[in-house]
Amino acid sequence: MLLKFQKKLRRLNSKQFLVLGSAVLFFTMLMVFFITDCNLDYNNQNGNLRSEYCRRFYYHEFKLLASGRKNCSRIINGDLDEVRNALIDNLIVANRRVLATERDYMEVTKDCTHFKKMRKYVLFSFSDEETNYPIAYSMVIHSDIEMFERLLRSIYMPQNVYCIHVDMKSSETFFEAVKAIASCFPNVFVSSKRESVIYASWSRVQADLYCMEDLLNSNVDWKYLINTCGTDFPLKTNAEMVKALKLLNGKNSMESEIPPSYKKIRWEYHYEIKNYPVRTSIQKNPPPLNTPIFSGNAYVVLTRDFVKSLFENSLAKELIEWAKDTYSPDEYIWATLQRIPGMPGSVPNHIKYDMSDLNALARLVKWESLEGDMERGAPYSVCTGKHRREICVYGTGDLHWLVQQHHFFANKFDPRVDDHAIQCLEEYLRYKLFYGKNV
Ligand SMILES: *[C@@H]1O[C@H](CO)[C@@H](O)[C@H](O)[C@H]1NC(C)=O
Repeated sequence: MLLKFQKKLRRLNSKQFLVLGSAVLFFTMLMVFFITDCNLDYNNQNGNLRSEYCRRFYYHEFKLLASGRKNCSRIINGDLDEVRNALIDNLIVANRRVLATERDYMEVTKDCTHFKKMRKYVLFSFSDEETNYPIAYSMVIHSDIEMFERLLRSIYMPQNVYCIHVDMKSSETFFEAVKAIASCFPNVFVSSKRESVIYASWSRVQADLYCMEDLLNSNVDWKYLINTCGTDFPLKTNAEMVKALKLLNGKNSMESEIPPSYKKIRWEYHYEIKNYPVRTSIQKNPPPLNTPIFSGNAYVVLTRDFVKSLFENSLAKELIEWAKDTYSPDEYIWATLQRIPGMPGSVPNHIKYDMSDLNALARLVKWESLEGDMERGAPYSVCTGKHRREICVYGTGDLHWLVQQHHFFANKFDPRVDDHAIQCLEEYLRYKLFYGKNV
């Protein structure tokens, strides 16, 4: 048998042409097989993502690489020299990148296919698990078109749905640019109603409620809702969020704690809305609840049933009406609803269920007053960017810490403070999206 085979081989050897010919044909067929298998028609991205080969092939097309000389994997791993170089670079005004304008976006979105391709939007879902678990986003923004578009790109998935509330005070060109970007995607839309958002007033909550109502009316069967503002950026991929949301097992996730006594004045008096809410001497009735007011922040992770209840549950509706003339209701309304028995996904109002922002999933913020030496008990180290309204606008040196946290999003980012930090997060997230692990 072996002899026979060797004889055959020898006969083939004599016909070298034939061997070479069939080898070439074989490899060509193999190549054609692989290329067609991973072939990506940009408008109909539905390649074979389960094949490792294709993933690598796609990553090559879709990777977001940070510009300049910095090495983002070193920065994210906390290499101090690399971080220092990036921070020094931020100080050199001449090195600042010019940000894309509203007009730029209006121009480039005239051809949506070109826009999405150029900006490397991922238009396919990575697993059935993600396809079957859509997330709704309520995005409340007022300016900085480039930052908004980069945020949208970083969380965009075809199965999700995105409502954008643009402040009534925003410029017409900003609104037009947002609409132009939204028009390129079937699952991105601007809210049907708009509010002029006044800092610390009810209007901030109302903007989210408009989007929530629109999102409930959309035809996407989303499971959870996440709200964001224009200075947020994700720390997690869609796949990671889906896994974490499933583990919440139908519960909401947000900050909800006993309020410090100095905050009580915020809902004990009637406020008049001028350019900001002004306290009057008129005392309000106590809240229409048997449970106390809890303190939290504006950024939350909510189940669909919780969002529905906001418009259906009589207690929730009464609380909403009662809260409208108070100071900064966004910082207690969700936290309080989260502790009302009967609200879907809520937890009992017992102290054992209190949750700080650092333990919740929704938002990671560095408050200036809490920054310090972690060796001596501070919750986080000093901001390496700049402070705005007592909150850290992250710098490159914060990334190493940021990526080790469980939060879905961190706040704040601003390309004018540190674009390197955002670029490195973009690079990091895109790698994680394709490979499911860190660089
Ligand atoms: C960045 O640094 C890492 C670790 O030192 C190295 O493996 C990698 O090749 C570098 N990347 C680039 C693009 O230079």
